[in-house]
Amino acid sequence: MIQSSRNVGIVGMGISLPEKILTNFDLEKMVDTNDEWIKTRTGISERRVAGENEATSDFGAAAAKKALEDAGLLPEDIDLIIVATATPDMYFPSTACIIQDKIGAKRAAAFDISAACSGFVYGLTVAGQFILTGYYKTVMIIGAETFSKILDWEDRSTCVLFGDGAGAVILREVQSGYGILSTNIGAKGADGMCLTVPACYISESEASKRKPEKQNTLWMNGQDVFKFAVRIVKHAIKEALEDCNLKIDDVDLIVPHQANDRIMDSAAERLKIPREKIFSNIHKYGNTSAASIPIALYEAYSEGKIKKDDIIVLVGFGAGLTWGSAVIKWNR
Ligand code: ACO
Repeated sequence: MIQSSRNVGIVGMGISLPEKILTNFDLEKMVDTNDEWIKTRTGISERRVAGENEATSDFGAAAAKKALEDAGLLPEDIDLIIVATATPDMYFPSTACIIQDKIGAKRAAAFDISAACSGFVYGLTVAGQFILTGYYKTVMIIGAETFSKILDWEDRSTCVLFGDGAGAVILREVQSGYGILSTNIGAKGADGMCLTVPACYISESEASKRKPEKQNTLWMNGQDVFKFAVRIVKHAIKEALEDCNLKIDDVDLIVPHQANDRIMDSAAERLKIPREKIFSNIHKYGNTSAASIPIALYEAYSEGKIKKDDIIVLVGFGAGLTWGSAVIKWNR
């Protein structure tokens, strides 16, 4: 974070989820899997799935409207919209531009960020700079995904893991000592091919991972991503805490990217903290990629698990490979 006399914090939050629920038992009828395997290996019981005529921007816009209401702001108050998504409606216009129109934020600049499951923390970091420098006053960050549209629904090793939804937050200047205390983002492109979705170019090696008729679907080496995740979660949290001179014992709640409960069990062990200090709602939604942290943050706050003055750590990891963490002194 740059040095600034300003403090930036979250002043409004909202989420939106598809109505359609797909349970593990529903999946049993679609692929060779079972509720017991999915629950014990991941912690997921069900996930939300978008309808055919529902797009990432629909959930993003609905979450954005709720965040505006929560903050007591109007669409015209927004200076910039950043959408973190790996499942944009279109290559262009960006999903941020589509949402800008849907919510009537006529004054706002708008762009998307591509950092998969780390996208929300990347977005928070970028957005924070605009306010710290005084360039903008009010920035909205939306994590929104419809992974159901890029899955191979015949591949049991991936289709059981993901879900759809969106979460939005609004950042503004907050009182001194509160808000985002530090962020830490990083990438290791050299290991990126363990989690891929081809777009305009499909190399021979990427083509060979998929069925000929499903070349643009998600492919993952789950074990490689798992090993990366357990290592990077500890690293990213420690780096962000060190940057603001805090220790792990100062943290009241960690709100991680919801990819797998076993990754969080391992993080609790490695960080030597009680498991209850790591929030989880993966059982209801699965992995919603860039949307998972803002959805989890919203729910943790709504359930009274986050109070004013609490030290909260957000941590994300995913395709790229990328990671990101943020330490927040809660200001609401
Ligand atoms: N149902 C039943 N059996 C299954 C299923 C399924 N849905 N999927 C795989 N299996 C089988 C495998 O075929 C294998 O069988 P075998 O032993 O006969 O070969 C066995 O279960 C074990 O498979 P593994 O892949 O070794 O299972 P693992 O314990 O590693 O769990 C999982 C797989 C859940 C994917 C795990 O590796 C994981 O969570 N990885 C991390 C994923 C992640 O964090 N992604 C985040 C980033 S997402 C993003 O950025 C978009």
